[in-house]
Amino acid sequence: MDDRLKGKTALVTGAGSSAPGIGNGRAAAILLARSGAKVLVVDQNPAAAQETLDMIAAEKGSGAVGAPIDVTKPEDCRVAVKQAVNLLGGRLDILVNNVGVSARIRTSVVDLPPEEWMRVFTVNVQSMMLMCKYAVPEMKKSGGGSIINISSFGGMYPSAGNNAYATSKGAIIAFTRSLAVDHGADSIRANCILPGMVATPMGLANKHNTPETDAERNKRQTAERERRLKGTLLGIEGTGWDIGNAVRFLASEEARYITGIDILIDGGAALR
Ligand SMILES: NC(=O)c1ccc[n+]([C@@H]2O[C@H](COP(=O)([O-])OP(=O)(O)OC[C@H]3O[C@@H](n4cnc5c(N)ncnc54)[C@H](O)[C@@H]3O)[C@@H](O)[C@H]2O)c1
Repeated sequence: MDDRLKGKTALVTGAGSSAPGIGNGRAAAILLARSGAKVLVVDQNPAAAQETLDMIAAEKGSGAVGAPIDVTKPEDCRVAVKQAVNLLGGRLDILVNNVGVSARIRTSVVDLPPEEWMRVFTVNVQSMMLMCKYAVPEMKKSGGGSIINISSFGGMYPSAGNNAYATSKGAIIAFTRSLAVDHGADSIRANCILPGMVATPMGLANKHNTPETDAERNKRQTAERERRLKGTLLGIEGTGWDIGNAVRFLASEEARYITGIDILIDGGAALR
């Protein structure tokens, strides 16, 4: 524990985890709390959010679980911001927009249903616009704040058959810069993080959504982890904690002169 973020209120979306383990949102929520922030843990899956809060509480951190929220719904986003402000001390200092999904099929645009492309865009990008729409006025009242949007390596370096995800993650970079331009004068900083191939439940999920046995899943994930290791310069595996640490840095006073940037956290994969 340290007190870098003491007295600050944070809201993290997608702070549960899509499967057992430590995702980027969960790691960010735990690390913000470890540095003294009061964290509203928000997710569409209340059990996953509660699990994150339990982890925070086990470290004697401070926070609460927000009402289950679908970040594509304006009213849900408004309520989440209100809960963060009301339940956690009357201010909002830190917003982490972490929710992100991939398309359900991997294919080029030729075979990609437009509605699936739009679903990904709505969940990944419009959600951030909605959260910021309600969070920015509260941050202004609080005298400023830090918004951290989770983009992806794939937004700069797309993999094959991933058009919807890559486009949405690229858009987050532009969205973040625009936010930084509009609200720098309000002392609101906006930055984004581009995780590389980090070993989180989402990162190791079955992207083709094909049925698999436990043994098949273990084999696929082992092969995927080996492939990822070879894809970095450092030869080490990235985790949700690597992303969470960058979130915590960007949220803190240590980053007071940083806005409008995107940080690639990929073990050097972009240079391979
Ligand atoms: N893991 C990787 O390798 C990797 C790489 C690059 C970028 N990212 C990005 O990191 C972010 C997520 O990371 P994570 O590890 O926390 O993922 P995760 O899948 O473990 O957690 C995401 C959480 O978001 C919640 N969620 C999904 N849709 C929602 C919605 N509409 N409303 C509210 N909650 C919703 C899920 O319930 C889940 O708990 C995403 O933006 C993803 O694109 C991950």
